Amino acid sequence: MPAGGLAARRLAPVLALIALCCLRSGYGATTAPQAAAASKKVSALDAANVLQVCSKPGQCTKIVRYPLKVRIGFECPPFAKQCTFYNTTQPASTSSRVAAAKPVNELQVFQYPKIVGSQVAMPLYQFTSEHNVLEAARRLLQSGSTSFKFDLKNQRANGKPIKELDKKGWLSIATHGELPYVTLFDMPFRHFLFWAGRTPAPGRNITWTDIDGIDVYKEMYRLVVWLLKRYNNSGKTFYIGHWEGDWCLRDTYNKSAPANPKKVQTMIKLLTDKQRAVDAAKKDNPWAKNVFVWHYAEANLVEQSMKQGPGWASMVNTVIGAVRPVIDYVSISVGGDSLREVNPAPALHKAMDFANQKLPAKPGVPGPRVFAGEFYFDMRNRDDNIAIYAPTPELQKQRGCWAAAAGVAWGAPHMLWWAFYDNEQTRSGAYRGYWLVDNGNRDTPLFRAYQQYFSDAQEFVRSVMAATGKPPSDYGFRVWATERLIQLSGKTDVPTRPAVRYWGS
Ligand SMILES: *[C@@H]1O[C@H](CO)[C@@H](O)[C@H](O)[C@H]1NC(C)=O
Ligand SMILES: *[C@@H]1O[C@H](CO)[C@@H](O)[C@H](O)[C@H]1NC(C)=O
Ligand SMILES: *[C@@H]1O[C@H](CO)[C@@H](O)[C@H](O)[C@H]1NC(C)=O
Ligand SMILES: *[C@@H]1O[C@H](CO)[C@@H](O)[C@H](O)[C@H]1NC(C)=O
Repeated sequence: MPAGGLAARRLAPVLALIALCCLRSGYGATTAPQAAAASKKVSALDAANVLQVCSKPGQCTKIVRYPLKVRIGFECPPFAKQCTFYNTTQPASTSSRVAAAKPVNELQVFQYPKIVGSQVAMPLYQFTSEHNVLEAARRLLQSGSTSFKFDLKNQRANGKPIKELDKKGWLSIATHGELPYVTLFDMPFRHFLFWAGRTPAPGRNITWTDIDGIDVYKEMYRLVVWLLKRYNNSGKTFYIGHWEGDWCLRDTYNKSAPANPKKVQTMIKLLTDKQRAVDAAKKDNPWAKNVFVWHYAEANLVEQSMKQGPGWASMVNTVIGAVRPVIDYVSISVGGDSLREVNPAPALHKAMDFANQKLPAKPGVPGPRVFAGEFYFDMRNRDDNIAIYAPTPELQKQRGCWAAAAGVAWGAPHMLWWAFYDNEQTRSGAYRGYWLVDNGNRDTPLFRAYQQYFSDAQEFVRSVMAATGKPPSDYGFRVWATERLIQLSGKTDVPTRPAVRYWGS
């Protein structure tokens, strides 16, 4: 998590004991009668050639696995303006089963939302002279990720701001030729999430408006219209949000400290201005098709908010429900102690349900509307103690896969690991381990597991498309993805599994 050094002082939250009694596995469901024919067809094949695809709880069919080894994705060399799509699919004649299969569009396979992703902000190292945002984005895209999160800020590759952009606002930053953002947005990710606006860290007494020196409503509106125009009909989705909101409400990095009421009011006003602007920009530009822009708020003290009760002012308790028009999405930042069980699903689902209950309904916004914009298991705390939940790269992989599986099972549109490159050090200068690629340019075991997940996800989507002519349903994908992430965690001897929720599609 990006709270700078002081964030390390977060205290171990006291998690209520969570009963495991009511967990229900979402998979292993029985084959529906109408699937009997398909099932007969595939019964002659060994289990490795068969995939189970579910449309609803209890309604699953078996399909034949698409048998070709297909390598698809994007090649994104450093400094290239565009990434090139590669497709080394063998001609269909190499297999009679494929000849009978429905046609598969590989680009659609690649861009099927894989939910798990990552982000870069304030990295402590990088490996080329290219802007760190582009360097990380290229690597994530090549790994098969479909989402990317970053901080939209006035900072060149060399770390220095462009002077004439001071107080010019977000659209000028997004479109300036010396900044990386147009190249980034042009990259073939489906989902971009980013912070717009500096947010006051504890100890600061200022508002976003003061910091950026801009009219928040006007800037947000202009930025949204530009995104709609440039990416009309691209299938891309943009989520514009901010850094960990509960710290912005407080005067110290102390989880138990009360919020500053003035800051709470400022936050409500700022989020209201941003949401009004997003809604107005879309309403005023109804021609925009197949491009989506949403506004989100982020809460980082969700468990503390549950524990302290509704009177304790916080993002979820106070701010989120007060914004009108209603806020589109809520991100939670969660990790470490809060997800202490090997299967973190009960704790994570409780936090997501809590945030979801505090979010008023909003027609027209695809649900569920809660995601983890940050989840993390650091390896060392600020004081150089080994973090008990992820002391080794292997345990970090286990926790990172299980937490991703738990969020996927709940229905979160995004589960974004904090972070691609580490942004924090211990007091003695060691890395805290908020990473997928370490300071020696090595992929961590967790990143290798996610790479395998992305590649297997493509194979699953391709198989479903070849068998049915359609991509898997959201639920069907999540049932598959939850189990696959758990297998990739390396820790499968756990009696409970995250329950996969059915939200109606
Ligand atoms: C990938 O290659 C296969 C086989 O040549 C072809 O059928 C398919 O249309 C290609 N997909 C894309 C997106 O180019
Ligand atoms: C912060 O704001 C309060 C109220 O507006 C004011 O009394 C106080 O002096 C300010 N503190 C700083 C450090 O500017
Ligand atoms: C954090 O805030 C709580 C509540 O105000 C207070 O009791 C506690 O002493 C604070 N902790 C630290 C380390 O300042
Ligand atoms: C946006 O895309 C839609 C669908 O292709 C098209 O009808 C519309 O004219 C486009 N609008 C602009 C401003 O490009």
